[in-house]
Amino acid sequence: MTVRIAPSVLSTDLGRLREQIAEAEAGGAEWMHVDVMDGHFVPNLTFGAPMIRALRRLTDLPLDVHLMVQHPERYIAEYADLGASVFTFHPEATVHVQRHLAAIRERGMKAGLALNPSTPLNVLDEVMDDLDLVLVMSVNPGYGGQSYIPAATGKIARISERIDAHGTSIVLEVDGGITVQTIAAAHAAGADTFVAGTAVFGTPHIADAVRALKRACLTQV
Ligand code: DX5
Ligand code: ZN
Repeated sequence: MTVRIAPSVLSTDLGRLREQIAEAEAGGAEWMHVDVMDGHFVPNLTFGAPMIRALRRLTDLPLDVHLMVQHPERYIAEYADLGASVFTFHPEATVHVQRHLAAIRERGMKAGLALNPSTPLNVLDEVMDDLDLVLVMSVNPGYGGQSYIPAATGKIARISERIDAHGTSIVLEVDGGITVQTIAAAHAAGADTFVAGTAVFGTPHIADAVRALKRACLTQV
C-alpha cells in the first residue's frame, strides 16, 4: 500500500527554508504541503502566492496546497500558473463546490476537498467523480503542533470504504498531529498520504524524521 509523506512548510524555519526542504527530500518526502491561511476561515494568517513561487524554485516535488481561506476559487488560476500540483479547499468556504473542483482539474491540478473534524462525510456524496483527493483533518485547522483527534481514524476508515466502493482512485490524506505514534493507525485505516509539520521540521534531523514516519507506518496497530 502507498505511503506518501507530505511535510508541512508551516513548521519550517523560514530563514533556513532551502536547506530544510532539501533535507526533507533527502529523507524521501514525496510531496510538499503548503498551508495557506487567511485569518478569516481560520484564525491564523500564513502565506500565499509568493511562498508557492519560492517553493517551485527550491524543489521539484509536487506542491500540495491546502487552502484554509474564504472563497478559495479566487486562487485556482494563479496557483496553477505558479506550478501547484494539488489544490485542496474546505467545502464550508465557498458555495459552488462542484464547479470549483472541475475548474481545478481543468487547470491541470488534482482537486481535493478537506473535511474538518466536525464536517460530515455526506459532503462527498455528490462529488465523488469530481475528486482526486480527500484530506481528513485530524485537528481543527489553523495551527501546527496540535494533537491528533482519535475520532479521525474511524472517519478515515469510513471514507476509505466509500472510495473502494466507488471504484475510482482517490488519494486519502490525513493532516494534523501526525507523529510516529499516530501514523500507523491512520495508515491501517486506509490513509495513503500523511501531512507532518512538527514531526518533520520540529526535529533536528529532518531526513531521519521522514524515514521514521515511513517506518512507523509498518507498525502493527
Ligand atoms: C493545520 C495545517 C497542518 C499543519 C500540520 O491547520 O493544515 O497542515 O501544518 O502540522 P502538525 O503536523 O504539526 O500537526
Ligand atoms: Zn494542512
